Amino acid sequence: MKLSIRSAASADLPAMMALEKHAVTAAHWSAEQYEALFRASESGRVAQVIEDESGFQGFVIARAVDREWEIENIAVAGPARRRGLGTRLLGELLDLARARGADAVFLEVRESNRAARALYEKWAFLECGRRGRYYSDPEEDAILYRLGVT
Ligand SMILES: CC(C)(COP(=O)(O)OP(=O)(O)OC[C@H]1O[C@@H](n2cnc3c(N)ncnc32)[C@H](O)[C@@H]1OP(=O)(O)O)[C@@H](O)C(=O)NCCC(=O)NCCS
Repeated sequence: MKLSIRSAASADLPAMMALEKHAVTAAHWSAEQYEALFRASESGRVAQVIEDESGFQGFVIARAVDREWEIENIAVAGPARRRGLGTRLLGELLDLARARGADAVFLEVRESNRAARALYEKWAFLECGRRGRYYSDPEEDAILYRLGVT
């Protein structure tokens, strides 16, 4: 399987939004928030997409604030899951964060999101906190994870 990862472009927005809409456990953003990704003022954000032979299969969005990065969303298309794409996408993002001088990468995830938590733990993220009832519809705690990347 040939995989490639590249920076997202505004032409990827429809595919990114369609994927997010169908990924119940993904973070849900408005069209305005996605469009803002490609404005110059949003330069602190990094968005990458992963493709295979059939094209777009997933994306990750992170925000860099000084030396701390935060993963804001990651999603892989349903039929392409469990084939290592999430692992590749996250691994390359961590390489990028490291290359750009990040000290640590943070994220939060629904407590019940076993797939995402297993993916983060595979990359050695460690739990560093909990936010009670952070999510709504349905209400649920967020688990916070941190990975030092220096
Ligand atoms: C989380 C997500 C991005 C993982 O993508 P993926 O391409 O399936 O991930 P991978 O195939 O690289 O799997 C990585 C590891 O995650 C774990 N994993 C993935 N899916 C899993 C599942 N359904 N149940 C348990 N563990 C799972 C496994 O440990 C796996 O490693 P292994 O295959 O070596 O055992 C994908 O499930 C997804 O898009 N979910 C919906 C969106 C979402 O919840 N995003 C996170 C928001 S915080």
